[in-house]
Amino acid sequence: MSILKVCRLGHPVLRQGTDPVSEEQIRDTLFQKFIDDMVETMREYDGVGLAAPQVHTPLQVAIAEVEDNPRYPEMPPLQLIVMINPRITILSEEVSFGFEGCLSIPDLRGKVPRAKKLKLEALDRQGKAYERTYEGFHARIIQHEYDHLIGRVYLDRMTDMTSLTFLREFNRYWSNAEVEQDIA
Ligand code: NI
Repeated sequence: MSILKVCRLGHPVLRQGTDPVSEEQIRDTLFQKFIDDMVETMREYDGVGLAAPQVHTPLQVAIAEVEDNPRYPEMPPLQLIVMINPRITILSEEVSFGFEGCLSIPDLRGKVPRAKKLKLEALDRQGKAYERTYEGFHARIIQHEYDHLIGRVYLDRMTDMTSLTFLREFNRYWSNAEVEQDIA
């Protein structure tokens, strides 16, 4: 496995949108290795999610995982999920505001409104279709990663830029705030 280079805001691949993955491509050993590399990369950088455009690949692939960390009860663990050609359906009109960060926008955090509940339909890494509902922090991660696949980043979703903060200041002034945090 290898750790992939993560591109930063300004690289056009983050904005161009993505192509669906074909069944044939999913069976390709190089594609399977690519998913392994994405997982390795997300874990290396302590992310809770990663989308293919962030590693210079404009395909509809994203992953998410939250490891159990008792220090962050607001970040419940999530077993590794692989989302290929995902679709999301928002199931709740209720929105919550939570801090997000992004591996492609290093050193910043900002408060983003996200729907509280959604349905995810996608293919897993074997190409098998699945459908699941997610709420709260997990729904937030999935919306963040899905946005990457349509060329959006969390800054585009912020409705009030006054919460935008550098990480050092976040830890100093905001980290005990009522909100969740997220690096994806
Ligand atoms: Ni991101």
